Amino acid sequence: MSVGIRGHLVHFHSDPSVGGSESVQSFSDGVLVIETGRIVACGPYAILGERYRACDERYHYPERFVFPGFVDTHTHFAQTDVIASPSPSLLEWLEHYTFPEEARFSDPVHGQAVAEFFIKEMLRQGTTTASIFATVHPESCEAIFRAADNRAMRMIAGKVLMDQNAPDPLRDTAESGIEASRALIQRWHGRGRLRYSVTPRFIPTSSARQLQLAAALYHEIPDLHLQSHVAENKDEIAWVKRLYPKSRSYLQVYQDFGLLGPRATYAHCIWFDDDDRRLMAATQTAAAFCPTSNLFLGSGLFDLAATRSCGLAVGLATDVGGGTSFSMLRTMQEAYKVAQLKGLTMTAEECFYLATLGGARALGLDAMIGSFDLGKEADVVVINPQATALCSRRIQSTKTLSEQLFVTMMLGDERMIEQTHILGRPMQTPELKGAVRAD
Ligand code: GUN
Ligand code: ZN
Repeated sequence: MSVGIRGHLVHFHSDPSVGGSESVQSFSDGVLVIETGRIVACGPYAILGERYRACDERYHYPERFVFPGFVDTHTHFAQTDVIASPSPSLLEWLEHYTFPEEARFSDPVHGQAVAEFFIKEMLRQGTTTASIFATVHPESCEAIFRAADNRAMRMIAGKVLMDQNAPDPLRDTAESGIEASRALIQRWHGRGRLRYSVTPRFIPTSSARQLQLAAALYHEIPDLHLQSHVAENKDEIAWVKRLYPKSRSYLQVYQDFGLLGPRATYAHCIWFDDDDRRLMAATQTAAAFCPTSNLFLGSGLFDLAATRSCGLAVGLATDVGGGTSFSMLRTMQEAYKVAQLKGLTMTAEECFYLATLGGARALGLDAMIGSFDLGKEADVVVINPQATALCSRRIQSTKTLSEQLFVTMMLGDERMIEQTHILGRPMQTPELKGAVRAD
């Protein structure tokens, strides 16, 4: 089955903070031709019009931006119901809201209901791929995989490993945690578009034995991912220092257990020095920049300029529910502001890159998603910058694509997400808001 999508296509070949305008490709009246979910042509309507008209299904989005679907490099589906819970800082927030909420996921019915809501909300915001923490309960991981698989989404998820310093109902053991992860890997890793991520929560909540077994598992099975948290909050760092006083840094503890490497993504990475950043780069470990969470929990300001100069991969992340929004547009806005406070002024192109190809690269998925390169999977977000009165008015006084993208990003939210396509198919059914079906 062939699908044609017509609109103002924008995507990236490389990082615009390095390649500048050469990194961006844009067709103001462009066409994507999609066969069985993959992109087989991308270019101007003036050239591809005939192929577009020959497609079995056609979606015409005049004056809408069509981007590769957003990639959220770190989030927690089980924290949906504690989003916007005020707390002085991370450790209190975990104790008072997050752990009690995650305990509810021993009930698979609850897990399934939240997973369904979470996936629908992601799609409503134009996010087509994410790296997701479930809870310690294997059933919760089943629930999020099933909800993503039902929609043929490219998704990464893992059961949390946590065998100490957590309430009893949220603890596994070193052995049982790995056994349950193995069973989930057998069932889900490589099924459809799903990948498994070994998920030790953070250093304080796993015994040395659990961390050793987690590293062994990550290295044993091809293409496994790994996700965790590092250097987010000063009290957390002091705790890790008490647990591993001889370690040079928090990150070094992960390295010593063998937990850094390709397809490993660490959220936050705020309180790093350049040795930490270089260690991340040397091991091909990626950072997830979580601006709304870092601001909300008062954790600190991520240093994007230093991250770039040390050469490690970085993506953007909502970190729901420490993060305050599912929206990658809102996440870009906050990333821009954090960078400002650190003396770096980002362009809109840099922000959209981080939310698309940059995120796909950070997760090691860029061979499959993140841009409109031929052969990639056709996950797409359609953005209507005229969807709000203010943006519609403001965009009229823009002159360049860069300005239009900047206004769209800075004033954007879910009202502008008109449609989200997975493998070419529209997901915001039944009605396609504002889209004109060509005949
Ligand atoms: N560190 C350990 N667990 C968590 C979590 O659930 N959220 C955040 N933001 N940081 C963490
Ligand atoms: Zn997190």
